[in-house]
Amino acid sequence: MKAAIYPGSFDPVTYGHLDIIRRAASVFDELTVSVLNNVGKRPLFSVQERVEILKEMTKDIPNVKVDSFSGLLIDHAKEKNIKVVIRGLRAITDFEYELQISQTNRILSNGELDTMFLNTSLEYAYLSSSSVKEIASFNGDISQCVPPYVAKLVYEKYGHTE
Ligand code: PNS
Repeated sequence: MKAAIYPGSFDPVTYGHLDIIRRAASVFDELTVSVLNNVGKRPLFSVQERVEILKEMTKDIPNVKVDSFSGLLIDHAKEKNIKVVIRGLRAITDFEYELQISQTNRILSNGELDTMFLNTSLEYAYLSSSSVKEIASFNGDISQCVPPYVAKLVYEKYGHTE
C-alpha cells in the first residue's frame, strides 16, 4: 500500500491545504494529515480543535486520516510505517525552507523518509494561515481563503460573530 503523510500546523486549514490534501489523496492509497503540536508557538486553535476541523473538512475523502504529533516528524512517520512526506510549494520563497527540512529529514532518517512536493494551485498561491488570522482579527473577509465552516470558527475565536 502506498501511504504518505502531510504534516503541518493547519492553524487553520485553508483552501490551499485542502487542495493539496485532495490531490495527494488521489495519488496515494492512504494519506495521513498530521497536525504538529508545536510547543514553541501559540496557536489560535488547539491541536484537538485542528484535528476535528480537518476531519470535518476531509470526511468525504475516504482514504484520508487525520492525526497529530509532537517531536520529530521522522519518528512519527516511522511509527506509522510511512516513508513519504507531502508538502505544498506556493512559490519559490517556500522552496529554500522546504528543501532544508526535506534534506534534514532524509539525513536524520538515513534515507528512509522522502519528501514529495506538490505545487499549490495558482488560485491559492497567495494564501497562508497567518494572513487568514490577521484578516479575520480585523473582521475582514476570509471567504476566499477558508471554507465557511472554518471561517465561522476563526471569527468566533476573535469574538466576531457575523
Ligand atoms: O505548516 P508548517 O508550520 O509550515 O509545518 C511545518 C512542519 C510541521 C512540516 C515542520 O515544522 C515539522 O515537521 N516539524 C516537526 C519537527 C521536526 O521534525 N523537525 C526536523 C526537521 S527541521
